[in-house]
Amino acid sequence: MTTPTPERADFVVVANRLPVDRAENGEWRRSPGGLVTALEPMMRRADGAWVGWPGQADLEVEPFEFEGTHLVPIVLSAEDVELYYEGFSNDTIWPLYHDVIAAPRYSRVWWESYVRVNQRFAEAAAEVAAEGATIWVQDYQLQLVPKMLRELRPDVTIGYFHHIPFPAYGLYSQLPWRRQVLEGLLGADVIGFQRVADAGNFARAVRRQLRYDTKASGISVPMGDGRTRIALAKAFPISIDAESYAELARSPEVQARAREIREGLGNPRKILLGVDRLDYTKGIRHRMKAFGELLTDHKVDASDVTLVQVASPSRERVVAYAQLRDEIELTVGRINGTFDTMGHTAIRYLHHGYPREEMVALFLAADVMLVTALRDGMNLVAKEYVASRIDNRGVLVLSEFAGAADELGSALLINPHDIVGLKDTIMRAIEMPGAEQGRRMRSLRRRVFEHDVEAWSQSFVAALDAARRRDRGPGPREVAPA
Ligand code: G6P
Repeated sequence: MTTPTPERADFVVVANRLPVDRAENGEWRRSPGGLVTALEPMMRRADGAWVGWPGQADLEVEPFEFEGTHLVPIVLSAEDVELYYEGFSNDTIWPLYHDVIAAPRYSRVWWESYVRVNQRFAEAAAEVAAEGATIWVQDYQLQLVPKMLRELRPDVTIGYFHHIPFPAYGLYSQLPWRRQVLEGLLGADVIGFQRVADAGNFARAVRRQLRYDTKASGISVPMGDGRTRIALAKAFPISIDAESYAELARSPEVQARAREIREGLGNPRKILLGVDRLDYTKGIRHRMKAFGELLTDHKVDASDVTLVQVASPSRERVVAYAQLRDEIELTVGRINGTFDTMGHTAIRYLHHGYPREEMVALFLAADVMLVTALRDGMNLVAKEYVASRIDNRGVLVLSEFAGAADELGSALLINPHDIVGLKDTIMRAIEMPGAEQGRRMRSLRRRVFEHDVEAWSQSFVAALDAARRRDRGPGPREVAPA
């Protein structure tokens, strides 16, 4: 379907990545992420545009229409990818904001590239936005864009959503460019975080570094002319398109595939499952350590219990990721070498990404879902597992260091650093009676279906519309949800 190319858009999303991937034959496919699904209705209603990187170095593409959205590709050179994306975004900000699980590297050359690339995104967004438009900036790769946009386009309303944690002040203050980043974010009218604690950490950093006043969720930002404006910084926990997971789980093909997966593993009594990007924040090693010890202690047997670990490839050129992959693969090899039998494997390790249908089949096949992140903004996999369990069965073991723990209190919450506690909880999950599984899963499902991704985007955009009305009077073409 083609729609007329909007000259200027009333609603603009700016994210590091475009919501599409380019296949080998050059065709564009919608990428699987939930953000795309969440924003699609708003994009259609409001002549939406999406500014982002198409995911490959030096790829130059003209703006184009895709399923009702105007896409504006940003070119990143091989050097930009190395310095801005792999360097500053994923080797400085990512580890620093995830509590320094890996050591952040502070490079002035990376920072300069981050500033330049953020400016490029801001200019592209400023160019495509209509008079009085709403611009919604996404995530840590683009923290300077809100302020840059405000300078370029004082008429627009600016939102920013931070998908990853915001660290405690004692860690944040390591950042050599800590003031510039805070000022960059404060260019937004509404700054959204996953957890109340993240918003609190941000407000504290602003008080300590910039000496601005904060009151409840409002931060008074000086405008340079003696006046101040209020930026709202608060939690808007992100979610998933829960119904689409349930719908897949109801499909006979997906259910047949779930049975096939169990059979392929030799019909073990229990299947444990981990699904993560291969990232050091996810606690994959801690999970394997606990499982390996349970095998050694003869608490579980490989012919009886199998751990399936899907670890999708991620940021492979960043050294910390390459090292993590080596460590995990060594661990899997050792555990399997020791405990596999001819007919059964202890750990089925898969270094691939899979389509959503296959993931839902895996969720249905898994008796226990292990989310053992050491730090995670939200962890949508936990919510995907819950949404897929239309049978009200299965046990979610969830790290208290994942944002999802604030909402999913009926899961078995764990501290992944406490290996003894983790082992005990895995055993409890394996042995949990059906009635208790049902009670817990029903309560988890209520939460995930009531707070789905549409509710998330609607509440964020409603906060933005309120900010606009407060500062500028009602906009000519408000994008409030229908
Ligand atoms: C996290 C971040 C996203 C990012 C995704 C995949 O969820 O919050 O901003 O897009 O990881 O990482 P990648 O580096 O491949 O975009």
